[in-house]
Amino acid sequence: MQNQLVIVLDFGGQYNQLIARRVRECSVYCEVLPYTTPLAEIRAKNPIGIIFTGGPNSVFSEDAPKVDPSLFEMGIPVLGLCYGCHLMAQTLGGAVSPAPTREFGKTPASFDTACALFCGLPEESIVWMSHNDFVQTMPPGFASVAQTEDCPVAAMANPERRLYGMQFHPEVNHTQNGVEMLRRFLYDVCEAKGDWTMGSYSRSTIQRIREQVGDGRVLLALSGGVDSSVCAALLSEAVGSRLTCIFVDTGLMRKNEGDEVEQAFAKKNIQFIRVDAAERFLSRLKDVTDPERKRKIIGEEFIRVFEVEAKKIGRVDFLAQGTIYPDIIESGTGNAAVIKSHHNVGGLPDFVDFREIIEPLRLLFKDEVRQLGLDLGLPEYLVWRQPFPGPGLAVRILGEITPEKLAILREADAIFREEIARAGLERSISQYFAVLTGMRSVGVMGDGRTYDYTLALRGVTTTDFMTADWAHIPYSVLETVSTRIVNEVGHINRIVYDITSKPPATIEWE
Ligand code: XMP
Repeated sequence: MQNQLVIVLDFGGQYNQLIARRVRECSVYCEVLPYTTPLAEIRAKNPIGIIFTGGPNSVFSEDAPKVDPSLFEMGIPVLGLCYGCHLMAQTLGGAVSPAPTREFGKTPASFDTACALFCGLPEESIVWMSHNDFVQTMPPGFASVAQTEDCPVAAMANPERRLYGMQFHPEVNHTQNGVEMLRRFLYDVCEAKGDWTMGSYSRSTIQRIREQVGDGRVLLALSGGVDSSVCAALLSEAVGSRLTCIFVDTGLMRKNEGDEVEQAFAKKNIQFIRVDAAERFLSRLKDVTDPERKRKIIGEEFIRVFEVEAKKIGRVDFLAQGTIYPDIIESGTGNAAVIKSHHNVGGLPDFVDFREIIEPLRLLFKDEVRQLGLDLGLPEYLVWRQPFPGPGLAVRILGEITPEKLAILREADAIFREEIARAGLERSISQYFAVLTGMRSVGVMGDGRTYDYTLALRGVTTTDFMTADWAHIPYSVLETVSTRIVNEVGHINRIVYDITSKPPATIEWE
């Protein structure tokens, strides 16, 4: 079954993925394509609607992205957002100019509720603006359907041709009823049926994998992260015992993590191989202090261990990868197979003899992957697992890694995570963990003087992990964490909380 498709044409806006996620949230399938996609290709995909994203350019600049004017003649509804709105206005014979007053942030707007996009919504509400230019003269056939104090064309519409533009960003949470406006475009203008659900996705994907794989064998490197776990669960439904998952336990994982992964998969009707490679990794890491060397060694060692196990299995027909849609969009290729290294280093496939790569999650956003994982019966702790770097605790122990330091960090980190969960903050902090600094300092415990490690706690909030704010964890939670760690874990006599954002710091300490 083919899903109805909306194309999000990307003009380089920072919210391109957010727009696509919002469309998917409305149960409509969409794909993000670069604005340079040839018209014939767009037509061949038979979209029910097209959304232009915003972009960093001004339509006046020489190298400003353009669009083939024939796109507007195809009879397909188009919604232009911000830059996309300017481009639509300019291409169709209107005029865009620098706005006398630049608008940025939450802005009160009034709407014409007779317009399909705003029908049934309040006449006044707040929108998120971020622009220097504005539509000064609308193209023929358009009317202004929303205004702010400084922007007479906050939205424009040509209902006969089903062409719409918005100066503001409906995809951003700060715009009240923004998703409702997009929903109206999708359902009332594009006549979407809402046929995109995780249930239908998993049914059709399982079917497709079965047809593709036939009686072949599939191999997956299971890291225990969300993507590879959901990939394993989906493949196990599709091909059962013809799936082999190799889970390399590096000995650098968090407390109980290896066992949790094993528990989730050991009962399934698949070949599950857990390789306990802790000693191998630790001996290779002995005396190594440089973070990049650590990463390199772990990456290489991982590949070696995987290779040995893969060879034992013999012939493999398909190598599965948990690539997800943002990886594909960010690669800028649109549809080329992207080889994602689960450990961000090295890459897996060169050495395994396989016929094809399968990437059953390549169309999904992270939140969809999570939903699918839950639908497939994976436990919540796996599905909601925060990101964890491939090199694991090796980059959270500054300097040399020893089994003793690993044990200390594992216990301290587990207490931190436990208290965050107890405070109900798990979902509001994007990533949080403990770091064992190499620093030792003087303390006093009981009647004695101590000379022990300083532990750092890190918590960040972020949507993209490229930039991040330090999380404002309540003092009371930090206090409990600190007391518990010092009391329950040996060799820590000082705890600090990292209050730097990224940039200038990174999220990890190494
Ligand atoms: P940084 O420290 O660069 O981290 O701000 C950004 C995000 O990437 C994760 N990270 C890694 N993930 N291999 C990984 O798979 C790595 O070597 C690695 N280093 C950092 C980090 O946990 C954060 O989510």
